Amino acid sequence: MKFIKILLLFITLQVSAQQGGMWIPSLLEGMNEQEMTDLGSKLTAKDIYDVNNSSLKDAIGHFNGGCTSEVISPKGLILTNHHCGYSQIQSHSSLENDYLKDGFWAMSLEEELPNPGLFIEFIVRIEDVTTQVLNGVTEEMTEKEKQSTISKNSNAFEAEVKKEAWQDTKIKSFYKGNQYFLFVTERFNDIRLVGAPPSSIGKFGSDTDNWVFPRHTGDFSMFRIYADKDNRPAEYSTDNVPYKPKHFLPISLDGVEEGDFTMVFGFPGTTDEYLPAVAIEHITKEYNPSNIAIREAALEVIDKNMKASDDIRIKYASKQARIANAWKKWIGENLGIEKSNAVEERRAFEATFTKALKEKGLEEKYGNILPQFDVLYEKFADINIKRRSFIEVFIVTNELMNMTFRANQFEQAVTQNPEAFDKAKESIESTLTGVHKNYNAKVDKGVFVNVMPFYTDNVDATIYDKTAFVNLDAALKLFDGSAEEVLKNLNNDAAYAYAKPMIDNFYNVINPEFQVENELITALETEYMTALMIALPDARYFPDANSTLRVTYGQVRGYSPKDAVYYMPVSYLDGVIEKYVPGDYEFDVPQKLIDLYEAKDYGQYADTNGKVPVCFLGTNHTTGGNSGSPAIDAHGNLVGLNFDRVWEGTMSDMNYDPEICRNIMVDLRYVLFIVDKYAGAKHLIDEMKLVHPKK
Ligand code: ARG
Ligand code: ASP
Repeated sequence: MKFIKILLLFITLQVSAQQGGMWIPSLLEGMNEQEMTDLGSKLTAKDIYDVNNSSLKDAIGHFNGGCTSEVISPKGLILTNHHCGYSQIQSHSSLENDYLKDGFWAMSLEEELPNPGLFIEFIVRIEDVTTQVLNGVTEEMTEKEKQSTISKNSNAFEAEVKKEAWQDTKIKSFYKGNQYFLFVTERFNDIRLVGAPPSSIGKFGSDTDNWVFPRHTGDFSMFRIYADKDNRPAEYSTDNVPYKPKHFLPISLDGVEEGDFTMVFGFPGTTDEYLPAVAIEHITKEYNPSNIAIREAALEVIDKNMKASDDIRIKYASKQARIANAWKKWIGENLGIEKSNAVEERRAFEATFTKALKEKGLEEKYGNILPQFDVLYEKFADINIKRRSFIEVFIVTNELMNMTFRANQFEQAVTQNPEAFDKAKESIESTLTGVHKNYNAKVDKGVFVNVMPFYTDNVDATIYDKTAFVNLDAALKLFDGSAEEVLKNLNNDAAYAYAKPMIDNFYNVINPEFQVENELITALETEYMTALMIALPDARYFPDANSTLRVTYGQVRGYSPKDAVYYMPVSYLDGVIEKYVPGDYEFDVPQKLIDLYEAKDYGQYADTNGKVPVCFLGTNHTTGGNSGSPAIDAHGNLVGLNFDRVWEGTMSDMNYDPEICRNIMVDLRYVLFIVDKYAGAKHLIDEMKLVHPKK
């Protein structure tokens, strides 16, 4: 009996500690610290975030605003995903030096490659500034008045913040505008490429394996931060030196096993965990399917052409990966929402909320929120899809339309203010040059023919034979001459003339209509969040992801996606060899890796079972932006590199379900094995601090 009681207690603890959440690192003391300890962590809240002493947070950098990276040596060596450094690797690649295909390894500091535009940002400190930001905001104000007061307060506060000259500040909204935090940041702009495995390792399995388990991808790349002589952020210069970090992560050679604690520390981008059921329904039944169809139509053409030509493969690699990634995610998201009965569950939750409102006498104040969502979504659904279809066609997939869209922005700028001509011209010229670096008119025309019907009945592919935009020199020539001449040339261009009425319609009708509806929904979301926290105060609320630094934690766990199927949490090099298809663009394996496998030449990187682990699963609640985030063990050592989630669990952006939501990490021992044994870059291993916490 006593045993059963203890067991029951254990099970409740397990369950209550496995609910997901992306937490603010400066607020871990109390509930989160306790949950982490229950899951096996030996870390204190202060080990993770401390303003006065160095802590784990000092090793975590926001990589180019979209991914996460971590410092892994006292000389500013940085680890992130292969797919996060992809466009930099691509930019240094050519048919002669195909780093995408063959990999790249700098064998000395001199060989490390600069990347203009690339930056890494660290968090110096985080402060709750809700009172200051919301000062003077009242319930009687209109949404516009509220927002204008908030932005005035924020600007005034930021101007007064104590910080060093080289630091920056930003204020971000949390809990749908119910709370505000200030971030003091430090941004480094001299970031050099140190190493990347070949795509046959770093992108092994490509789209077929993307978002799924079992996974065997070595999705990593390495960079280095350079600073000035005083160790401060500086623009690129040959005088810069490797950055000495406040903290870098030691790397565990002992790895993890099922049930071990892990924590993922990074910059998750966006989640929508508090959506009403009607919104989840709209997204999965209408919005996602529309976007999936457009991308599928584009990919059909791009994939075929990439397989047929190396030149097109290199040019379209990054673009294709971007289009395919969200396409596949949305399909998985729909599956997961359906499988987990998320809509029904959300309705049941809403019934609980409504009941709590009644019990607390809050019905009059908040009882209209949910019915109001139904009304708003009814009006929002069509315009949301129409607007997004425009974006998918004119910005994401078809480049001729994208060029006309940019050219239209040029026209608008110049028409509004003739003085802006030189600047606008410079900007459009650089956009066009950028697009043409990776452009093929034949491929783009194929994409046009496929995607345009999703937006309009007026599909005219003959514009490709008449427009100047498909040829860089001709396109640039359009912008030669006086403002008047340029605008005349532009409007005489066949593609521009074709696209302009649709672009005008987007700016004058579609987007404004969307904004009106969207603002109403956003304001209602703020009210809903307030009401939730008042009506159900004992629930566990974490703020939606907003590209700020967060902690999520869990354990190494397999999962069961369907009846009679169970995925074990760790994959091995053996699985890479099992998947090997010679010459295949997704599943080829480099000969050297096969040789190492056959010779079992694993050095210190094998597990106790004699195999090299490649990827592992955890219950950490992650999203886009967490790519490249470190997976940290109970003692603060690096054990994994987060890069993906399992297909059935990508719905965690709206509905985290501990049963099937798993994040996927590369085992650090695989990373080290590749760097050391495959690439022979032993000098990088020597920079790191390797530890044995389990021995
Ligand atoms: N799905 C992962 C993420 O959202 C990895 C994407 C990169 N890999 C790929 N095959 N496109 O970013
Ligand atoms: N692959 C994603 C990223 O790039 C991570 C995820 O969505 O799980 O951030």
